[in-house]
Amino acid sequence: MTWKSIGIFDSGVGGLTVLREIMQALPQEDTLYFGDTARVPYGTKSPETVTRYAGEIASFLVKRDIKLLVVACNTASAVALPSLKRQLTIPVVGVIEPGARRAIEVTRTGRIGVIGTTGTIRSSAYTRAIKRLKPDAEVLTRACPLFVPLAEEGWVDNHVARLTAQTYLQELKEAAVDTLVLGCTHYPLLKQMIADVMGPGVNLVDSAEETARTVAAILADKKLLRPRAEKGNHNYFVSDIPAGFVRVGNRFLGGKLGDVFQVSLDEEEESI
Ligand code: DGL
Repeated sequence: MTWKSIGIFDSGVGGLTVLREIMQALPQEDTLYFGDTARVPYGTKSPETVTRYAGEIASFLVKRDIKLLVVACNTASAVALPSLKRQLTIPVVGVIEPGARRAIEVTRTGRIGVIGTTGTIRSSAYTRAIKRLKPDAEVLTRACPLFVPLAEEGWVDNHVARLTAQTYLQELKEAAVDTLVLGCTHYPLLKQMIADVMGPGVNLVDSAEETARTVAAILADKKLLRPRAEKGNHNYFVSDIPAGFVRVGNRFLGGKLGDVFQVSLDEEEESI
């Protein structure tokens, strides 16, 4: 019996935070990861552009016969999820609902901070998702666009990262949020720094774990889980030269990044 893979995409290396959790929760599953490194960042682009990019990547992965698609990018989840769900027949899982669910579970005071890219914060997708689950929650948001290049560059624990985090997080800290959603797949790379700046007593929510649980539940429900005794293979595609992705990705996955192939969506793919 041949088993299909789980498709996962992000604008770059950040979605590996979600892949890592999926690999931990479902070690038997094959995965195909796409990082759109030629067009990162998505967070500064218009919803129309991000939706088009997401459609092209979904088309690329669906042609490789995946059984489920994980949109491991907050910006793409915030703006392109409805269109992907409409157009694909396989289950599509985003990262925003799982992150919102987790935030509601861990908050004590109902004062929840959300940080993300400009596109994610502007979309209000997190605020809507949190308020749907807990209408009396107080949601404070802040775009932190410079965190993305810092994470891509691997500058996660130096003084530049600290000063940037202090500047961005000052208001949320003063507003005494007790929970902070890392609403961008790159931000878990800066988790330690963000935790230091926010101080003790603030829960940091990273949607990756919760997203992996959602993927496992859907596959179990649809009887699409591979037997536990199998060992998953992991393939990586990027749209620019792989060097930077390999460097940061390997550090992030603890040196376990497999082969990375550069592909050109322009030449072979049409958007769905
Ligand atoms: N992956 C994006 C996100 O989670 C961050 C990087 C970008 O702006 O493309 O929002």
